[in-house]
Amino acid sequence: MSQHANQAAWLQARSHPLTVAAAPLTPPGPGELLIRNRAIALNPFDGIVQTLGGLVTPWVRYPAILGSDVAGEVVSVGPSVTRFQPGDRVLGLARGIDKLANRAAEGAFQNYVILRQEATTRMPDTMTFEQAAVLPLAVATAASGLFLDDQLGLQQPSAERVAPTGKTVLVWGGSTSVGSAAIQLAACAGYEVVTTASPRNFEYVRQLGASLAFDYNDVEVVAKLVSVLADREMAGALAIAANSGAQCIDVMSRCRGRRIVAMASSPLPIDDAPLTGQFLWKLTHLPRLAAGFAGLALRARLKGVATRPIWGTDLLKGPLGRAIFQDFLGPALAQGRVVPAPAPLVAGHALQDIPEALALLRRGVSASKVVVSI
Ligand SMILES: NC(=O)c1ccc[n+]([C@@H]2O[C@H](COP(=O)([O-])OP(=O)(O)OC[C@H]3O[C@@H](n4cnc5c(N)ncnc54)[C@H](OP(=O)(O)O)[C@@H]3O)[C@@H](O)[C@H]2O)c1
Repeated sequence: MSQHANQAAWLQARSHPLTVAAAPLTPPGPGELLIRNRAIALNPFDGIVQTLGGLVTPWVRYPAILGSDVAGEVVSVGPSVTRFQPGDRVLGLARGIDKLANRAAEGAFQNYVILRQEATTRMPDTMTFEQAAVLPLAVATAASGLFLDDQLGLQQPSAERVAPTGKTVLVWGGSTSVGSAAIQLAACAGYEVVTTASPRNFEYVRQLGASLAFDYNDVEVVAKLVSVLADREMAGALAIAANSGAQCIDVMSRCRGRRIVAMASSPLPIDDAPLTGQFLWKLTHLPRLAAGFAGLALRARLKGVATRPIWGTDLLKGPLGRAIFQDFLGPALAQGRVVPAPAPLVAGHALQDIPEALALLRRGVSASKVVVSI
């Protein structure tokens, strides 16, 4: 391995800019793979940890390496790794700032990254690294919300065709990265999916497997959803996008079946916090955020709806992680039952391009995923 030199986009301390500098090349331990990273996808969470890490991820050890979404080639494998060998093309969920890993060697924003085999999937030969990189965190978050017993607890997906369950899932935010994964996973588990998106993305979400799409900007969207869902047996709702929890609670309170909402997002956007001079932002936003959470809890209680916050890596704490990344995703991608969506929007070709790519993501994307090739 000595011929490889590693570089990373480091976060030296909380609320600092990212700086590209040399990084150690860590040999893979038991159950781990060393990956030559070829494409990194960016997530709103990356910017949130950079700016508000003290609040949202207080456990992170600095200097840290952010980033969750990786696609690349296996360089070497650690002891007990049997499913992969050097040269394999893989996608995987990097866990550098995840509480259970919390190790710079596992952060995505570097040329050589350590992945754990239970969060890694071989990608089809026909798929580009940029396409594959859009999947890991979105799939993990959607799967955690849909299938964990303490979330919606749905029947798990299969790469083979499954009999319809006769039940419906509401995925609010179907054109988000998480929503794109959720529609496909829920459909592969035998559920009808009804979703929301902007009208320009209706055809996109239908192609992914949603049966119906509604415009979340329509002031009557809740009433319209209730009118079509009233005769369905609901299995639950996945609320993706800031403040979608309240609308999902309102819909589910008026439906038959399981009145439960798994929530991926906070009641207000928190991805707009500045890197420096955060005092004013915190002064104005934190009380509103606290009031937003309290309001959601009260609304859910009054309307008889259970709510669950989603943490995207929770599936890796138990057997669901292997069921998704090991057993399901590879065959489902190979058979085209799951497609890499949304489309990658390549915003750079070097680690140095990550800050500008994060700024692009922060300005907002529609049914696309910001990716940096390296
Ligand atoms: N809890 C976790 O572990 C976890 C993990 C990953 C992500 N998340 C959260 O999940 C959310 C989505 O993340 P992402 O990376 O998937 O987002 P993204 O792809 O960057 O989101 C962009 C999409 O958001 C849609 N959108 C914006 N406002 C909406 C609304 N009010 N209702 C429905 N859709 C809306 C837009 O749809 P149109 O273009 O169709 O208008 C656009 O396609 C974020 O809040 C993120 O922080 C949480």
